[in-house]
Amino acid sequence: MQAIYSYAGATQTRRTPALPVRVGGFGGVQGLVDYLSAHHITHVIDATHPFAAQMSANAIAACARLNLPLLSMERPAWQARPGDQWQHVPDMAAAAKILSPMLKRVFLAIGRKQLAAFVGLADEHQFVLRVIDQEGGALPLPASSYELIVARGPFQLADELALLGKYRIDCIVSKNAGGADTYAKIEAARQLGIAVIMVDRPVLEPRTQCQSPQQAMEWLDRQRC
Ligand SMILES: NC(=O)c1ccc[n+]([C@@H]2O[C@H](COP(=O)([O-])OP(=O)(O)OC[C@H]3O[C@@H](n4cnc5c(N)ncnc54)[C@H](OP(=O)(O)O)[C@@H]3O)[C@@H](O)[C@H]2O)c1
Repeated sequence: MQAIYSYAGATQTRRTPALPVRVGGFGGVQGLVDYLSAHHITHVIDATHPFAAQMSANAIAACARLNLPLLSMERPAWQARPGDQWQHVPDMAAAAKILSPMLKRVFLAIGRKQLAAFVGLADEHQFVLRVIDQEGGALPLPASSYELIVARGPFQLADELALLGKYRIDCIVSKNAGGADTYAKIEAARQLGIAVIMVDRPVLEPRTQCQSPQQAMEWLDRQRC
């Protein structure tokens, strides 16, 4: 069996998988159809982040056109536990809308891409942002409205507790990414009684799904029978 791993190229630093890698967008659905055809791809596993909705939709459309089997590998969403103070919202615009003026110091643990939703709040809130790369272009928020942390997970509970204390955070905005790497901030918020605005996952067309690489390998094995 041969496989190739595709990265969007959105970040400078990458975890290198033990597979050949290609980097960069395909050019929409048609570009992906062309790529899959040209490289004689027989199976597609969508292992993108649960919030990479465009790429997932493109994979669904391209595989449907070529009649290729597609598997989505998605870690389970986090579930609220006793002590969590979550408010669920469907997207980043809704998160910005319900951010109370009372909660002044906000940890936007959402990466770079959707910061624009919070521009209108920059006068009355102070933000702490955490991004993977220092490089990546200008941020849409006024420089006086945020402090920037550059770090890549996994993050540990003790460090997240220290961060929330150091910046006197009183609210976190988080995507429901699932998985262990970025969960410590949610646990830290629970321990400190800090509110979390939890952005729920985008809803996609139904697909064959699994939750782990092990299950993805089993799916591939079954396809060979
Ligand atoms: N969104 C998040 O919160 C998040 C968090 C951590 C990691 N990531 C990862 O970062 C990448 C970009 O995320 P996003 O939210 O910007 O995605 P997105 O909105 O779904 O995709 C935007 C465009 O980026 C290109 N792209 C995305 N993933 C790609 C891949 N694996 N290989 C080749 N091209 C890809 C595609 O361009 P073309 O249309 O030109 O093909 C796609 O249309 C994804 O691979 C995702 O898994 C995202």
